[in-house]
Amino acid sequence: MLSKKLALCFMITLFFGSALSSSVFAAVSYEKEELVSSTIKKWQPKIPENEFPSHQPSIVSGKEVYKMHCAMCHGSEPNEVLTKDQLRSKSPEEQYIIIKNGNAKGMPAFKNKLSRDEIWDALMYVRAGVLGYYPLNSDELAKMNAIFGGNCAVCHGTRGHGDGPLHKSLNPVPANFNMFQRLYTRSDNRLHKELTHGIPWTAMPAWKNRVDFNQNYKFDDEMIWKLVTYVRQFGFSQEIDRLDIGRQKLKDYEKSIGKGK
Ligand code: HEC
Ligand code: HEC
Repeated sequence: MLSKKLALCFMITLFFGSALSSSVFAAVSYEKEELVSSTIKKWQPKIPENEFPSHQPSIVSGKEVYKMHCAMCHGSEPNEVLTKDQLRSKSPEEQYIIIKNGNAKGMPAFKNKLSRDEIWDALMYVRAGVLGYYPLNSDELAKMNAIFGGNCAVCHGTRGHGDGPLHKSLNPVPANFNMFQRLYTRSDNRLHKELTHGIPWTAMPAWKNRVDFNQNYKFDDEMIWKLVTYVRQFGFSQEIDRLDIGRQKLKDYEKSIGKGK
């Protein structure tokens, strides 16, 4: 009973605290299709729709592509040459374009060697290898699921589809983290900034220095980076089990999603 009240209070605080000036209260109902086309315009992808992946990129397939085509320059592990700062500063879409067309710094063009999906797979393997595989263990996963579930899912939905209980009353609607045209056109730096300061004129709150109501975690810089990695994992298949990162980690992971013992 008490916790329900607290949850309600929290939601109200979120609403009034961060979205007062926005059009949150203008409850509108729209066709999903309309919404997608109007908001995609706002994101302005640089590549045509058919160059986004046809399915969730696979970091397992990406590892094979990487070994064959990338490791000779980038090292046996993706983090030997590329840094976090570098990968965070560009969107996956911009990185896809560099892999496809090459750049003046010596990165060769792969458009005649690799298919669209092979490029996406390799890129997601590189990003995971440098920015961190997710989730690495059950404790971390359970913690992040709880934080996302308690603070974000009310708008973004537990699976990140932007379909949480509040979504119908919000305009613009909460981001769908599974939509390539949206999340792949944002750099991690941008997502970090949006999480830190919120997004003006929308219901998206500023998280910096807030305290997570259920768990008492503080949304400091490090937690915000974790949330960036967390929302990214909706957009590609993890399969860390098959990457042979470690048997214990796989067991932990399976336990955390209710499989295995
Ligand atoms: C002939 C050597 C070579 C090969 C092969 C190669 N790269 Fe690169 N790559 C580079 C160089 C050089 C850079 C530029 C490094 C820099 O900007 O500091 C680069 C940069 C990158 C970047 C960062 C681009 C940026 O500006 O942020 C990514 C991502 C990348 N490579 C992915 C790949 C992938 C995936 C493959 C395999 C499909 C691959 N590379 C194959 C040499 C190579
Ligand atoms: C009160 C509703 C609400 C809550 C709670 C909320 N968000 Fe949002 N969020 C939104 C809306 C609405 C947008 C879309 C704004 C837009 O279209 O510009 C958004 C956008 C975002 C974006 C930007 C996506 C992009 O395309 O640039 C990220 C990242 C994000 N939310 C993460 C989170 C995380 C993580 C949490 C929890 C810590 C959270 N949000 C909680 C409503 C919410």
